Amino acid sequence: MTVSGGGGYPVIVAPGSVNGLAKLLDEFAPAHRYAIIADSRVAELHGDRVRRLVRETGRPAALHTFPPGENQKSRERWIELTDALLADGLGRDSCVVALGGGVTGDLAGFVAATFLRGIPVVQLPTSLVAMIDSAVGGKTGVDVPAGKNLVGAFHPPRLVVADPELALTLPPAERAQGLAEALKHGAIADLAYLEALENRADDLLAGHLEATTVAVDRSVRIKADVVSRDEREGGLRQILNFGHTLGHALEACSQYTIPHGSAVARGMVLAARVGEELGLTAPETSARIASAVRAFGLPAEGALPAPAGDLVRMTRTDKKVRGGAVRYVLLERAGVVLGGDSWSHAVEDAVVEGVLAASSGGGRRV
Ligand SMILES: NC(=O)c1ccc[n+]([C@@H]2O[C@H](COP(=O)([O-])OP(=O)(O)OC[C@H]3O[C@@H](n4cnc5c(N)ncnc54)[C@H](O)[C@@H]3O)[C@@H](O)[C@H]2O)c1
Ligand SMILES: [Zn+2]
Repeated sequence: MTVSGGGGYPVIVAPGSVNGLAKLLDEFAPAHRYAIIADSRVAELHGDRVRRLVRETGRPAALHTFPPGENQKSRERWIELTDALLADGLGRDSCVVALGGGVTGDLAGFVAATFLRGIPVVQLPTSLVAMIDSAVGGKTGVDVPAGKNLVGAFHPPRLVVADPELALTLPPAERAQGLAEALKHGAIADLAYLEALENRADDLLAGHLEATTVAVDRSVRIKADVVSRDEREGGLRQILNFGHTLGHALEACSQYTIPHGSAVARGMVLAARVGEELGLTAPETSARIASAVRAFGLPAEGALPAPAGDLVRMTRTDKKVRGGAVRYVLLERAGVVLGGDSWSHAVEDAVVEGVLAASSGGGRRV
């Protein structure tokens, strides 16, 4: 499939597709030299093979690694990598290959966006988060002390090769985190997909190749369609933030001990309840989403990491807040996002606080 934003780029989703990498690079990202960037864990598992596959272009390819972990998505690591590329003598006719999870995609993408004022990047996702979500869309960047992803650039890739075989080495707990974003795609755009995911939850968590390929393919189609229609998040692209306003607050209030996918899963159930409370979302929608969330062992209810009031205050620091009112992406029903004048809707803090209090067993305060 093709994403039309950023000049248009192909997204290949198929087991074994990485074996044809050289031909794809020749066609979509020809360069005199390639710099493969990977964290050390992914480099150990897939680095040598991918370097060999890139060298089948007949061009030199060097592997640059950094330690794994979200805290490596930093300005410091950006400095190190850009210096390493300069020391290697890479020119404007070079291309970065981001091999890894979302941390690598965002960091290596930002290196490419800024190196010599921008060189092409090819995304080679290896985690489900990266295949299902971050490799498509062109958002790159690093985390800074003031918050996550606050310094970055839109830098669409020339090519995305999502080979689900590369994800077979992913630990099961990491799988569920990526699949939370797949549930989001189903919730906003495709009820049949949401149901299919729930039905195949055990296969997907176990790393079943065919089930994983189908999920990555359907998710990428949904995300690619949204991004193609709104590359820079002026309008429609906001719908991909469903579950994220409260999700980010949950992550931040837990000092990031709640992982992103888990926080988004809970955030989706809560956002559906907020919509139900306002009479904008069909009854039973939150129950429908909660059931799918539970099938993946992700949290749908239970104790919250902070009092409801603290979580609501945290939503106000989200970078998507406009004009004072916190805006939420809401559903019309499971599989259909709520439209209207805008794809997000201002919701009063008291409504959210009441839903949060009720969800954690603290009783209704609406
Ligand atoms: N740009 C976007 O649009 C976008 C969207 C969603 C998430 N993100 C970003 O993505 C990041 C999270 O991505 P992530 O969960 O992939 O994190 P990650 O890149 O840190 O990967 C998670 C862990 O899995 C390991 N790993 C990756 N692939 C593997 C494989 N095939 N086998 C074994 N281990 C493997 C990594 O080494 C790492 O330890 C966050 O920084 C988030 O902000 C960006
Ligand atoms: Zn997310």
